[in-house]
Amino acid sequence: MIVAIDGPSGTGKSSTSKAVAAQLGLSYLDTGAQYRAMTWWMLTNGIDVSDASEIAAASGKPAIVSGTDPEAPAISADGADASGPIRTQEVTSAVSAVSAVPEVRSRITELQRTIAAGAEGGIVVEGRDIGTTVLPDADLKVFLTASAEARAARRSGELKDKDGKAVADLAATQQALAQRDKADSSRKASPLKKADDAVEVDTTELTLEQVVECVVTLVEQAAARK
Ligand code: DC
Repeated sequence: MIVAIDGPSGTGKSSTSKAVAAQLGLSYLDTGAQYRAMTWWMLTNGIDVSDASEIAAASGKPAIVSGTDPEAPAISADGADASGPIRTQEVTSAVSAVSAVPEVRSRITELQRTIAAGAEGGIVVEGRDIGTTVLPDADLKVFLTASAEARAARRSGELKDKDGKAVADLAATQQALAQRDKADSSRKASPLKKADDAVEVDTTELTLEQVVECVVTLVEQAAARK
C-alpha cells in the first residue's frame, strides 16, 4: 500500500500523514525533511545557495538518511542529526531555491523511490510531487489544500484574535508561505501540482482528527480495490 500525500505548506500534511501511518501500521516518509536536510548540509558546508551550479555540483555529496517510523521520524545528513536544524528560519528561507535544482531533485527522488520500494507493509509519503513524479503508481493519491489564512494560522501556531483580525506575526507568516508556494509551484523541475487522479481534500474547516479519519477511509477504500 503506497499512499502519496501532497499539497502546499500548512495544510496539515505532516500531522495527517504521520497519524494515518501510525493508525494503519504503515511506514512514513517526510520528503520535505530530505530537501531541508540537503539545504542545511549546504548551508553548513559553505555552499552558496544562491548559485544553482554550486548547488548542483554539491548535490551528490551528503548522505541523507531518513527514518520511517511515524512516531519518531529522524533525519541525518552525513551522520549528523538534522532533525532540529532543518526547522530553522535559515533553512526554511533557502529550501525552495535548493529544491528547484534538477540535480538535487533527481538525487532525492531516487532516495525516495528506494525507501518506498523497501517499505514492507506499505508507506505514507508526503511532499509536493509524490503523486505526479516520485510515485505516479501510488495506490492512493491525496492532495490537501486549505485557505491561505488557515495555513498561516497553523504554521505560526497562532489563532486570529477575538475580532477575527490576523496578528502581525500571522501576516508575515502568510506572506512567507505565499512566497514559498509560488516558488514551489512555478519551478520548472517537478513543481507542486495536484495529480489528475488525486483526491483533493480541503482542510480549511476540518480538525486534524477529521482529516485523518477522511484519509484513513480513503486508504481503506483503496486497499479494498487492490
Ligand atoms: O514540507 P516542507 O515545508 O518541509 O518542505 C520544504 C520544502 O521542500 C518545500 O518548500 C519545497 C520542497 N519540497 C519539494 O520540492 N518536493 C517535495 N516532495 C517536498 C518538499
